[in-house]
Order: sequence, then C-alpha cells, then structure tokens
Amino acid sequence: MTSYSFPENFLWGGAIAANQAEGAFLEGGKGLSNVDLLPSGEKRISIMKGNVPSLSPVDGEYYPSHEAIGFYHRYKEDIALFAEIGFKALRISIAWARIFPNGNDETPNEAGLQYYDELFDELLRHGIQPVVTIAHFDVPVHLIEKYGSWRNRKLVDFFETYAKAIFTRYKDKVKYWMTFNEINMLLHLPFLGAGLVFKEGENKEQIQYQAAHHQLVASALAVKAGHEIIPDAKIGCMLAAAMTYPYTCNPDDVMKAMERDRESFFFIDVQSRGKYPGYAKRFFKDHDLNIAMEENDEELLKNHTVDYIGFSYYSSRCISTDPEVLSKMTSGNVFSSVSNPYVKKSEWGWTIDPKGLRITANQLYDRYQKPLFIVENGLGAIDELEGDQVNDDYRIDYLQHHVKEIAESIQDGVEILGYTSWGPIDIVSASSGEMKKRYGYIYVDKDNGGNGSLKRIKKKSFYWYKELIAANGANLAIRE
Ligand code: BG6
Repeated sequence: MTSYSFPENFLWGGAIAANQAEGAFLEGGKGLSNVDLLPSGEKRISIMKGNVPSLSPVDGEYYPSHEAIGFYHRYKEDIALFAEIGFKALRISIAWARIFPNGNDETPNEAGLQYYDELFDELLRHGIQPVVTIAHFDVPVHLIEKYGSWRNRKLVDFFETYAKAIFTRYKDKVKYWMTFNEINMLLHLPFLGAGLVFKEGENKEQIQYQAAHHQLVASALAVKAGHEIIPDAKIGCMLAAAMTYPYTCNPDDVMKAMERDRESFFFIDVQSRGKYPGYAKRFFKDHDLNIAMEENDEELLKNHTVDYIGFSYYSSRCISTDPEVLSKMTSGNVFSSVSNPYVKKSEWGWTIDPKGLRITANQLYDRYQKPLFIVENGLGAIDELEGDQVNDDYRIDYLQHHVKEIAESIQDGVEILGYTSWGPIDIVSASSGEMKKRYGYIYVDKDNGGNGSLKRIKKKSFYWYKELIAANGANLAIRE
C-alpha cells in the first residue's frame, strides 16, 4: 500500500449550486431565472437545448429547483454538518437574480446581498473558505425576454455590473471566485448554459459562438474588476473537463479526439492564454461564422486572464470515426461519447474512469501551466435508506479511486489547489432534475416528485470523507 500526501493547505470540501440547493425561488425579492423553468421529466432536455421555449412556469409541471433541498433556509444546519466533516472550503454559486432580480436593475437587491453575507459569515465562523461561482447556469429571465440573453452584447455590461456589486460587497469574505460554471456547456445545452432559445431556421452555431464571445469578454471584465476590487483574490475559469480518447490509433480517430477536446479547450485557451487560438479561427472560417468583436476585446482578453483553472471531472470521453463504433454511444451524459470497453459505467450510463482524472489534470496543467482546482467530481447513484443509515460503499469506492489519482497527479508535478466534490449533500440533478441521482455524504429525505421531510441523514461516506480530510489524505489506502 502506498501512502499519499497532499499540500498542507489543500482545500478539501464540496460544491453546490444555488438553483440545485437553495429553493426559495421567489423569496427575498429574487427574480425568475432560466434554471427555475426546467421541469422534471421528458421536456427538460429539449428545453435545456434551447429548442422549446420555457419562460414562465406552466401549471401542472413540477419544477424541482423551486424548493430544491431548502438550503436557503437550512444553510446553518447544513454548514454545521460540512464543518463536522472537516471541510476547508465550500463552493457555492450566487444566484444572479437574487442580486439583480431582472438582471438590469438600477440597484442591487439588499435582501439578496444580505443573504449571502450571512451565509459567508456562517462559513467563515466554521473556518470554511467560500469558493464562489458568479454564474452557475443562471440568467435572469427578464434578460432572456428583453435581449435574447447572451446572444446580445448588452449582457456583458449587466454581468460586469453584477460581478462588481458582489466583489465590492464580499471583498473581505471571499477570495476564491470563478466566472462561469462549465462555460463549455453553452455548446451542448445552450438554454442551461447561456439562456439561449432558438427560433425556427436560425443558425444555432453562429448564435452559440457569438454568445460564447460575449461570455468570454464578460469573464475577462470580471477578472479585471475582481483584481482591482480584491487585490488578493484568485479568479478562475471553470471547464466541464475530461479527455477524449481516440477509440483506436487510426490517425482519423486521433484527429477527431483532438478536435473534440479543442471544442472545450477553445474557451479556456481564451480565458487562460488570452487569445483566440488558430484552430478556432479556422473553425469559424470553415463554418462561415462571423463573430462580432469590438475594438477593445482583444486587449481585454489578453490582459485579464484567469489565475487558476477550475474544472469538473466525472467521466472520460471516447470518440471514433467508424460508423459501426459510433452506433454504440454511452447514454445519459450530455457530452456524447462512444462506449469505452475498458471502463465501467454508473447507473446513469456515465463512464467511471479514475485514471482519466489524472490524465485530464496532467493535460490541463501541461497546456496552461496554472494551478488547477478540481471543483466537481462524484458519483450520482441511487441510495437505499436502511433505517437511518445509507451504506454507500460504491460512492466511497468511486471517490477514493479518484482522490488517489489526484494524489498521483500531484506527484506528477501538477499544482492542485483543492478538491470540492459535487453535491456533498444530496441536491437536485442538473441534467435530469431528479433527486434520486444522489452525490452526497448527507442524505436528504426527498424524492423525485418533491415528497419528503427534507431531513438530513449522514451516510457512511460522511465518516469516510471526515477521516480522509482529518489525515489530509495520508490515510488513503486503496485495496484493489
Ligand atoms: C455539472 C454541473 O455538469 O455536473 C452541475 O456543474 C451538475 O450543476 C453536475 O449537477 C452533475 O450532473 P447531474 O446532471 O448528475 O446533476
């Protein structure tokens, strides 16, 4: 058995998002967001893709984010549990529409600002470092209705105003920030990632890349403002990461895998290296895309790059050029991938590949040479409550194998700031809207239909993670 070591100030913790945890979707003056309009059930995916508009709640539909797990009211109880595990950091997101209910209001909503003030105070009282995502899949609905969301350049100004307001308010409380959660999601689920709704016959690709440009400029402006307002802040980007393996060593497969990876790297190349890569310019040309840019944009992107690379990793991806192989795609994950015969899959069809995390971390570090922050990882699984216990050995198994690969990456020389696993307390699944796809160390009594007492119950993994953090990873012993 090997023993592993992690840096002394390694940020162990967990990550949640406002719309999947808070609930209270119209309380405290909050406005309506795109993520409040994702029903559970079949329609959810086509709405997230921007193919079916959903701009106001429909009677008879169930919207899981409206109550979520009631974190808005129960955060003190939940933070006490995170503190009991020994969290050093909690990644949360601020709901844009709590601060600016319409997205373009003259002044921020004091009740919303006050809520996060108290939340940060509670975390800091427990010695937990807040790590804040400025936009985790949320856009105020008013901006979608009035401006068409991120397709419109105006969103850049509204986002900048929002970012400045929260930097100014929380400058003494929050040092770790991220601009857009999984910024590459915009290409896969455009309504979720950027509030985009397409009209019949529109050139989706053109709109998506124009919106991407706006988010990239907005991100650079937020980095600029953040550094000015909070000189010791660390401001990162956030990528839904995972290396794409070529199915075979056929150069065509290898080329296709590289292109797939570049679809995602494109965003981080701009956010971290500060300019559009040559392959993106070629892509725009080959696809007849004309991206409107303003005179200053190049300069802004160049001068305000991120301090670290935040990323999520759940699964590796795999691609082929062979039609026969392409007929065997994995199900469940929004990032399409052919089935990889060498790795297992979760109950939702997501590939389980711990070594892929090490490969991805090395790949990102080689490319950007900036500290990495693993801000999401975990296993979505069905848990059975036995009395008041959940024996989630499968989750412990998943997590410890992934944490081991983080340790290996650190030994490879990769600089990693921390690890905040996804959904340390069960929350609503983003892709499916289900509650039964659970990631937590803490079980929440609520089902897919919204029934349940919301009671919190510690799972077996709760104690596993507590021991791991207490030993700063040194007790990580994998029995194969
Ligand atoms: C990431 C998102 O895509 O994966 C989270 O940033 C999401 O919001 C997580 O919840 C896990 O996905 P899911 O669909 O299982 O909730």
